[in-house]
Amino acid sequence: MGEAVSERLKAVVPDALAAIHEVLERHRVTEEEWHAVLAFLTEVGRADEFVLLSDVTRTSVLIDELTHGEDDSAVTASDVEGPMYTVEPPFRKKIYEEYEGMGDDDPLFVRGTVTSTDGSPLTEAVVDVWQTGPSGGYDVWDERQPEGNFRGRIRAEDDGSYEFQTMLPKPYTVPTSGPVGRYLEAVGQHPWRPAHIHLKVTAPGHQTLVTQVFFPDDPYLENDTIGAVKSSLVRPVERRDGHLECAFDVVLRPAT
Ligand code: BEZ
Ligand code: FE
Repeated sequence: MGEAVSERLKAVVPDALAAIHEVLERHRVTEEEWHAVLAFLTEVGRADEFVLLSDVTRTSVLIDELTHGEDDSAVTASDVEGPMYTVEPPFRKKIYEEYEGMGDDDPLFVRGTVTSTDGSPLTEAVVDVWQTGPSGGYDVWDERQPEGNFRGRIRAEDDGSYEFQTMLPKPYTVPTSGPVGRYLEAVGQHPWRPAHIHLKVTAPGHQTLVTQVFFPDDPYLENDTIGAVKSSLVRPVERRDGHLECAFDVVLRPAT
């Protein structure tokens, strides 16, 4: 492994440096400007915002595509994980608790099956979900919400089906109070993401899928600040008596 990493570094690092040097030369970047770049990167590290920087520069989307994009027609499309995942949320079918000021939107039921590429149900699949609430964003940004709100794991049933109860999320802005927020303002990039639900789906003998579900008519579908929207992941929401429903079947690739 060590030797393989070292070979990879020998192949990639000179090209990365050549690309950076070419840009610095082309734009005659000054010492003062370069020191500002280094100070900015230092701040990004201190604020623990490197994942966020990778996301808003659309580098995460590119890496996701390079890693999972090839020959993905038979499986559910993968998407960026982002920085908001927390490990091992509780197993529960209703992934939130009510909180003051959350509004009175109808609940949303997300349902589907988890299957392998040959159509067989993955009865031991686990669907791990995280999302913002209907107001106030992620639990970690919103002191009104109990810790772990709008996060949960759901075990598939014997026929591979799963279901969870949530609320339809709303568009939100990625964090803007730190160095990445200043970067966005400086380059004139808005901080909005369309409403979405994140899913991480695991099953024995299969590759883990990290993905997101989006909803039609969202004003940010065409210009997600992290560029993560894929048309195959936009799913309709239907209104039934007193609640909403969204179908999302998941197909996993067998492990190689
Ligand atoms: C998210 O979708 O959770 C996310 C993505 C990028 C930055 C911040 C949050
Ligand atoms: Fe998110």
